[in-house]
Amino acid sequence: MRTDTPQAVRLADYRPFPFAIETTRLVFELHPSQTRVKAELAVRRTGAKDEPLVLNGERLKLVSAAVDGQALSANQYVLDAEHLTIPDLPDQFVLTTEVEIDPSANKALMGLYMSGGRFCTQCEAEGFRTITYFPDRPDVLSRYSVRIEADRKFTHLLSNGNLIDSGALEDNRFFAEWEDPFPKPCYLFALVAGHLDVLVDRFITMSGREVALRVFVDPGQASRAAYALDSLKRAMKWDEDTFGREYDLDLFMIVAVRDFNFGAMENKGLNIFNSSLLLADPHTATDLDYERIEAVVAHEYFHNWTGNRITCRDWFQLCLKEGFTVFRDQSFSADQRGATVERIKGVRALRARQFAEDAGPLAHPVRPSSYMKIDNFYTATIYEKGSEIIRMLKTILGAEAFRKGSDLYFQRHDGQATTVEAFIACFAEASGRDLSDFFGWYEQAGTPAVTIETAYDEAAKALTLNFTQSTAPTPGQPDKKALPIPIAIGLLSETGEPLRETEVVLLDKDALTVRWENVPSRPILSALRGFSAPVNLSTDARPADRYVLFAADPDLFNRWEAGQTLARDLILARAAGTPDEVGEERYADALGRALVDDTAEPAFKALLLALPSEQDLALMSEPAEPAALHESRKTLRTRIAVHLGDLLRRLHGEMQSDAEFSASAEAAGRRALRNACANMLSADPSADNLSRLVGHYAVSGNMTDQIGALQAMVASGDAQREIALNNFHGVWRKEPLVLDKWFSVQAQDPSENALERVIALTKHQDFEPTNPNRLRALVSTFANFNPARFHDSRGAGYRFLADQILAVDSFNPMTAARLVEPLGNWRRYKPALGRLMREQLERVAAHPDLSKNVLELATKALG
Ligand code: TRP
Ligand code: ZN
Repeated sequence: MRTDTPQAVRLADYRPFPFAIETTRLVFELHPSQTRVKAELAVRRTGAKDEPLVLNGERLKLVSAAVDGQALSANQYVLDAEHLTIPDLPDQFVLTTEVEIDPSANKALMGLYMSGGRFCTQCEAEGFRTITYFPDRPDVLSRYSVRIEADRKFTHLLSNGNLIDSGALEDNRFFAEWEDPFPKPCYLFALVAGHLDVLVDRFITMSGREVALRVFVDPGQASRAAYALDSLKRAMKWDEDTFGREYDLDLFMIVAVRDFNFGAMENKGLNIFNSSLLLADPHTATDLDYERIEAVVAHEYFHNWTGNRITCRDWFQLCLKEGFTVFRDQSFSADQRGATVERIKGVRALRARQFAEDAGPLAHPVRPSSYMKIDNFYTATIYEKGSEIIRMLKTILGAEAFRKGSDLYFQRHDGQATTVEAFIACFAEASGRDLSDFFGWYEQAGTPAVTIETAYDEAAKALTLNFTQSTAPTPGQPDKKALPIPIAIGLLSETGEPLRETEVVLLDKDALTVRWENVPSRPILSALRGFSAPVNLSTDARPADRYVLFAADPDLFNRWEAGQTLARDLILARAAGTPDEVGEERYADALGRALVDDTAEPAFKALLLALPSEQDLALMSEPAEPAALHESRKTLRTRIAVHLGDLLRRLHGEMQSDAEFSASAEAAGRRALRNACANMLSADPSADNLSRLVGHYAVSGNMTDQIGALQAMVASGDAQREIALNNFHGVWRKEPLVLDKWFSVQAQDPSENALERVIALTKHQDFEPTNPNRLRALVSTFANFNPARFHDSRGAGYRFLADQILAVDSFNPMTAARLVEPLGNWRRYKPALGRLMREQLERVAAHPDLSKNVLELATKALG
């Protein structure tokens, strides 16, 4: 174990920085292994006289430092591994520093690094400190001007703001000068230099200004950026229409890079994207890729207001920008692609990732109060639950007051680094409501459990609803208080007719009783419509009631939810050794009826066909036995595939299209349904079904069809899959983004020897662990999406993951830390497995040169 216990950072310790950095001038002399960075900071004291200037700086070679042109001698400053400290400073001065850094050695992909032979940066959250000495905190806003000098072969030299000048230098070098008129924190700084192709367009804003749009990609790839560019223009328009937000610079740029720790980054005027979330054409990208590109392009663009114009006072306020921006991108996607289908997908992701996090040792509030490494807090809780909070705020206040609140926020805090309190205060003021209890959603971790019990009084024609809520303790928070939970409820008759329109009940105490008059017959409750709050709901509904909802609920989210709940209970019953064969047949029948409902969209039917995932099932059963859950889920799949075989084959045929590829939500929905049918049919590997899958693969004219067929073939376990996998590799071995899919399909192999396959793939010549996409495609996919094989009874899956964590941690701590989570929930698994998981966590935690990132998570997971 490390001896130097890293210190936690606490919200309660926040102090403003005692200096303002009014302007920041940066000069980069780019060189792959010896880049020079000169910084000139115009500094003004804002705090006490005796405060020294403490700048962050890590892995920098200090060449020189001067105050007002006077070089500092060694006794005038203190240098340690993480800071440059200068005491005895005047109230106003110019600090110049010069450092040398080595981008080519930077495999952590934070700060300035090289990807595919080009320079790029990632500064959020704390990467800027590896570029130059600076107060690396989001509340220090400064106006930047940047000069970049590089060899001619890096044809484009990009930074934030507007291009002011460029020209030739000696030795086949040239320069570019950039100026960003908007003060910004250093985490939004960006620089890119490389040989790039560019796709150009323009956008006319609501006030008639013209904005030049440029998307930069690898040479030869420009046509694959067209969908991203189109998404960008739609997002720009939507933000004007929906939130009144207009873009503010004359230029907006996006650059795609292959080596990137996350999805994308909202640097002012110069977004940088993981190429997997930018490049798409029908042959190489799936519909899911298109959908994510649209959402992430919008997300990063929306940050221009929620994150950049208004930023965070400190990193504890991360949800201020991320939760709100996710809410904005989800609302955009709902408008673009249909609210129901988007909501179902959103809730599925929320439950799989955020509910799991909230139920384990890494549970934390949406606004945490302490952290060791902020990189570890870019979590589903901050992002997804953060978005759910905003969604509830809108539900509680209504659309109009919500918009008034957001208008007030943009007007009042423009140009500031602010807090979640200040944000909520705008909504309280605009709506005239007291939101102090609502703030509990930010401070309390854990998923509330809500129960509803109903009693119908036949004689009085009245329904009594008894609500309760409770939240289980989470680490550091033993006692939980009641939160205001908006629960949207409607009533159906026993024959599926609407009895009462949706009404939102605000459950803001531990228990609440509501009585509804004029209910003409015994009603069926449709509660938590549209998933109106991020809670676990249980009601006294009988299976028969759920079948009514599954067939007829006008709220399509709840129609889907009823099917999921029925399927879940059947799988859990079988896993517990009490299978309900009659129930399983009944479920298959009902599913068959839902699939022939002409009023439902194909995309919705595809979602009906997806049974609850093994991870979701594990969360619902304690102690979890992944192997048993896998087997009983498989049994239900096979039963459906047999029972509905003719219908699934018919739909599979009908959804095939010879039309030219369209990326529209409607066309994607048909492909999704076809793939869902193929996937279900793979659970009944009859000769007829198998040849159908082979045919599906052979005729596929786009990546969605091709990967759908390949996935189904791998799931079937049939020998033909090896031929298809080899064929796929042969065709796509020069396309990194497609090769990622090849790795990830195999990582999800349900067969007995999947772990051996995955380990062998880590030795494959195309496996590049330094590339996060490739690493995640194989290792994370296996650990997160193949529970039956990851939870190998001898612990070999855990050992494999621990080996990978340690190997990756030696060069990329941020990405290594993201691999810890699958071992984290060891307490939820049956003791024989939990013990083996714990052993591997202990092995990781005991490693002598562990990063702070992995150490924090491994320690917390051990508890
Ligand atoms: N702010 C980015 C977003 O949500 C994500 C981000 C944070 C990030 N830190 C990062 C991306 C580090 C890459 C690397 O849009
Ligand atoms: Zn974001």
